[in-house]
Amino acid sequence: MTTDAVRRHDPASRTFASDNYAGVHPEVLEAIALANGGHQVSYGDDVYTEAVRGVFRRHFGEQAEVFPVFNGTAANVVSLRSMCARWEAVVCPESAHINTDEGGAPEVTGGLKLLTVPTPDGKLTPDLIDRQAWGFGDVHRAQPRVVSISNATELGTLYTPAEIKAICDHAHELGMYVHLDGSRITNAAAALDVPLRALTTDAGVDVLSFGGTKIGLMLGEVVVVLNPEASRGLPYLRKTSMQLASKMRFVSVQFEALLGGDLWLRNARQANAMARRLADAVRDLPGVSVPRPVEANAVFAILPADAADRLRKRFRFYNWNEQVGGGMVEVRWMCAFDTTEADVDAFAAALAEELRA
Ligand SMILES: Cc1ncc(COP(=O)(O)O)c(C=O)c1O
Repeated sequence: MTTDAVRRHDPASRTFASDNYAGVHPEVLEAIALANGGHQVSYGDDVYTEAVRGVFRRHFGEQAEVFPVFNGTAANVVSLRSMCARWEAVVCPESAHINTDEGGAPEVTGGLKLLTVPTPDGKLTPDLIDRQAWGFGDVHRAQPRVVSISNATELGTLYTPAEIKAICDHAHELGMYVHLDGSRITNAAAALDVPLRALTTDAGVDVLSFGGTKIGLMLGEVVVVLNPEASRGLPYLRKTSMQLASKMRFVSVQFEALLGGDLWLRNARQANAMARRLADAVRDLPGVSVPRPVEANAVFAILPADAADRLRKRFRFYNWNEQVGGGMVEVRWMCAFDTTEADVDAFAAALAEELRA
């Protein structure tokens, strides 16, 4: 070792808090090292960014335009900014990450009006879209221009290709475009056993935020424009939004490692399988219920709040809903690409102990 840096954590530690608590997949780290050394043109005119454009086109079609950015919030905000004029608005589920967890970035930095719709399971349908897609031509109403959905959703549910196509067809009939927050699109495609383009290009999605961080990258997401008519000025907006990486080669090469072969699929399958294993291990424990379908890599559970607090001291995770009542709390447990069967079994055993305590 030649570095003065010191390891300050236990590399064997595991949590169920978020898939972005996980580290970097070794194949991705190897790719970053490969891209190191020498000088390369900055701001995206490097050989790695050129190569990754080809990789994305193989997955999403020859028309795909590729804009790496630093994080998922930026991918969403930059995408939506490029799709909306100043007077236009975005229809999304109330539970959408852009509405609940981005600190108001769409409003503050994007100047975007969100028109939200309550949903039972985090998913929009054509009928639910119509609750907000109205008032076209009325100067008093922000003009609905984009439908934004997430796959997997924030509630761990999935849209099938047919459900996305129905949304896209409906939106397009209304003169609207569709943005997909694909922070976990790899988990969705792996769970449904379909290619990435079945949930995007082939279903009619116009602009995609493609997630990398949660599936094994150090950092980085990509705005993928699938329909050039739906998006304007992205190269400029990315810079204006402070998302143009000067050393872009290190962001891009990670996506080549992820998508050039089957790393995305291996990682997503592992995370999804561990969530299923976890749900199966806990759903019959006395006092525990799993109220939502486990379709990707998230498990939601309702359990006694005191047991959750004791368990949290052993494995980190977050409360999802503290208003359940009756001394119960709803929690969210996330599995990552590096969650193992042994991790899940140890967690389930710890939960059983804390429920008995
Ligand atoms: C569905 C979804 N979209 C977007 C994001 C934003 O990603 P970031 O935290 O990298 O900004 C997240 C992160 O948790 C997410 O879960």
